[in-house]
Amino acid sequence: MPSLVGPSIPAGTPAATGHPALPVGEEALLRPWLRTDAAAVLEAFRDPAIQRWHVRRADSVAEAEEWIAAWQAEWTAGTGAHWALVDAADGGTLLGRVALKAFDLQDGTAEIAYWTVPLARGRGLCPSAVTVVTQWAMDAWGFHRIALEHATANHASCRVAEKAGFAVEGVRRSAWLQADGRHDVHLHARVRTD
Ligand SMILES: CC(C)(COP(=O)(O)OP(=O)(O)OC[C@H]1O[C@@H](n2cnc3c(N)ncnc32)[C@H](O)[C@@H]1OP(=O)(O)O)[C@@H](O)C(=O)NCCC(=O)NCCS
Repeated sequence: MPSLVGPSIPAGTPAATGHPALPVGEEALLRPWLRTDAAAVLEAFRDPAIQRWHVRRADSVAEAEEWIAAWQAEWTAGTGAHWALVDAADGGTLLGRVALKAFDLQDGTAEIAYWTVPLARGRGLCPSAVTVVTQWAMDAWGFHRIALEHATANHASCRVAEKAGFAVEGVRRSAWLQADGRHDVHLHARVRTD
C-alpha cells in the first residue's frame, strides 16, 4: 500500500556519505574505527563499568577486530555509524566510543550509544562527543530525533544524557536483560526542534 508520507531521509543517504572525522573541542577527535584499535577495545572491555553495561564481552584481539569490522560494515551499508573517540594530539590513543544505530529513515530517527575509558572520565568528554555526533547527524543526514537509553541504575550515563540535552521521556520497566539481571531503562531523546 502506498505511504501517505514521504521518508524523512531519502533512502541511501547514510551509505552515500563519506565517514567524517569530527573534532570534540581541542583535545579529542571522533574518527572512523581502524582495525589497529582492536587491542585498545579489548583493554576497554576489561573495565568493570564498561563490561557491566554491555551484554557482550571481548576475549581476544581477534574478536575485537571482528567488532570493528562489523562497525565499519554498518557505515558502508548505511545502517549504523560508529566513531572511535581518540586523543586529538596523537589520533591514536583511544578515549571512548560513540555510535548511532537503529536507523529509521522513514521517521528520521536513530539511537545513540557510548562509553569512555576510565582515564578519560569525569571531564565532560562523553557529553561533548554525544553532542557533536547528534548535531552532525541532524545537520548532515537530517535525522529529526535521536533517542538515548540507559539503565536507571547507571547514574553516570544519565548525567551524560542530561548534559547533552537529551530530555527524559520515561521509564521502560524491566526492558533490558543484562548479565546481572533485568533493569528498568530511562528513555531520553533530543529532537531537532529542541
Ligand atoms: C557513562 C560514561 C560514558 C560517562 O563518560 P564521561 O566522559 O566520564 O562523562 P562526564 O565527565 O560528563 O561524567 C558523567 C558522570 O560520570 C560520573 N563520573 C565523574 N567522574 C568519574 C570518574 N572519574 N569515573 C567514573 N564516573 C565518573 C559523574 O556522575 C558524572 O556526572 P557529574 O558531571 O554530574 O559529576 C562513562 O562513565 C562510561 O563509559 N561508563 C561505563 C559504560 C557506560 O555506562 N556506558 C553507557 C551505557 S548506557
